[in-house]
Amino acid sequence: MKYKTLKLIIQKRVGWITINRPKKLNALNQETLAELHHALAIFEEEDNVRLIVIRGAGNTAFVAGADIRELATLSSEEGAALAQRGNQQVFDYIEHYNKPVISAVNGYALGGGLELAMACHLRVFADTAKVGMPETSLGLIPGYGGTQRLPQLVGRGRAMELLLTGDMIDAQRAYEIGLANAVCPLKELDTKVLELAAAILKNAPNAQMQLLASVRAGFDPHTDGYVAETEGFAACFETDNFKHGTSAFLKKRKPKF
Ligand code: COA
Repeated sequence: MKYKTLKLIIQKRVGWITINRPKKLNALNQETLAELHHALAIFEEEDNVRLIVIRGAGNTAFVAGADIRELATLSSEEGAALAQRGNQQVFDYIEHYNKPVISAVNGYALGGGLELAMACHLRVFADTAKVGMPETSLGLIPGYGGTQRLPQLVGRGRAMELLLTGDMIDAQRAYEIGLANAVCPLKELDTKVLELAAAILKNAPNAQMQLLASVRAGFDPHTDGYVAETEGFAACFETDNFKHGTSAFLKKRKPKF
């Protein structure tokens, strides 16, 4: 498929997805969300891809939010449909993804942009990044999981402050409160992301798939995370990854996954 709003590359087992609407600061319109879903689904099936990185085109923005032009005329019913579809296509889809997803936050990540970064499993920020949840300035609240994932990541008090004020914070502050896993100069962002990717790629993909599911289960009110962990733990024993990892250790070799 030819994408209008994305660029995709696969390099050394990493699938890079660049959101490519720089003139609109990579704002998420419905076309971009549908394309993101398509690209994520392709990469999920692709054996050459073990990890995904999502970033924004240009040096100004990761994603400056949901496309306000599209939001401006919606009714409540249409707003509900938009949120449901967006969550299903992208935000919940990433959360349930069976490969690690890293966001490379190369500038503004506002509203839906920060929600996209928060749906990813890890976040690396350029030192120029500015992030916030300005929805209430538009007379809205977040619709792509922001009221849930922000408190999970930074705690309820800090999340409330960011949500109620709508103010932006810089990369250093985001790192201090646990929103960013790492911060680096903008020109080193890809290198920093690849370092993190390499640290992840040296470990067993099958175990990581179970790990993602187990951690996620603990945040699902309908699931017992401890039960999910036992199930995931048990499932690992039958895998080639487990046979390879344990036998490499016992033979005093490094495993190769
Ligand atoms: N939706 C739609 N278009 C957006 C957008 C969004 N969320 N964010 C930026 N754009 C567009 C602007 O309308 C402008 O388009 P134009 O040139 O056709 O007028 C273009 O992107 C550049 O943005 P601009 O505002 O001129 O850049 P800036 O450097 O002055 O300001 C921001 C940057 C990020 C501070 C500002 O664009 C902004 O506040 N964006 C909205 C953020 C927001 O509220 N997001 C939450 C949405 S739920």
